[in-house]
Amino acid sequence: MSLKLGVNIDHIATLRQARRATYPDPLMAAELCLWVGADYIVVHARNDERHITEKDLAQLCKYYGKKIHLECNFSEKMQKLALKYKPGSVCIVPEQPGEITTQGGLKFTPKNFDRIRAMTEALQKKGIKVSLFVDPDSASLRAAARCGADVVELCTRAYSEATTKKEQAKCLRELALASLLAKELGMEVHAGHGLNYENVLAVADLCGVSCMNIGFAIIAHAVLAGLPQAVCAMKERL
Ligand code: PXP
Repeated sequence: MSLKLGVNIDHIATLRQARRATYPDPLMAAELCLWVGADYIVVHARNDERHITEKDLAQLCKYYGKKIHLECNFSEKMQKLALKYKPGSVCIVPEQPGEITTQGGLKFTPKNFDRIRAMTEALQKKGIKVSLFVDPDSASLRAAARCGADVVELCTRAYSEATTKKEQAKCLRELALASLLAKELGMEVHAGHGLNYENVLAVADLCGVSCMNIGFAIIAHAVLAGLPQAVCAMKERL
């Protein structure tokens, strides 16, 4: 089975929102990514709509339906949003006000467990596949399975931020064990966060991982790779 790639296009919208402009357009970005072989498109709906807005989500789901994978927190508000636009799949992630990016996997507590499980069930009832973003530890994986998750997305943040080979190897061992346990518990295994062209292969090689969700590194590469063409186009115009 070949590994699938979900391209997170949040930062196309980050660029647009920096100017409150109408471009670059996430819809166009989604079209380009899918055209060249991305398996699906990932967008993260945040409370502050600092990149992807409800309007973006509406358009993306209208045109690409099941190819849209929505990341959002487990609030009633986000549940309503997901049920309104019905993307193909949803990944429930934690969200802290003011964070630069997602800080890690869901922390399952007696207080939030029922909410996460209820949201999982509500989305599944409407045919939406549900993934839970978790750290690679057995307690989180077992909690995700008890919530009835179809998928766990293993958080690769610690791995991607490891600064020594030893630390990186330890993180990879944890991811490998987590992947095996998740499969044993009957869940599909995806992975993402902080992956780039240098560090991605070791995670891609882990037994059981079937999808990788990657955003920042791809959009950052696209900006520089496309710059010569963009400058030439303007020079020609002048
Ligand atoms: N997976 C999840 C659950 C995320 O929250 C993010 C960041 O939005 C990603 C993957 C993608 O991370 P990156 O942009 O670092 O590739």
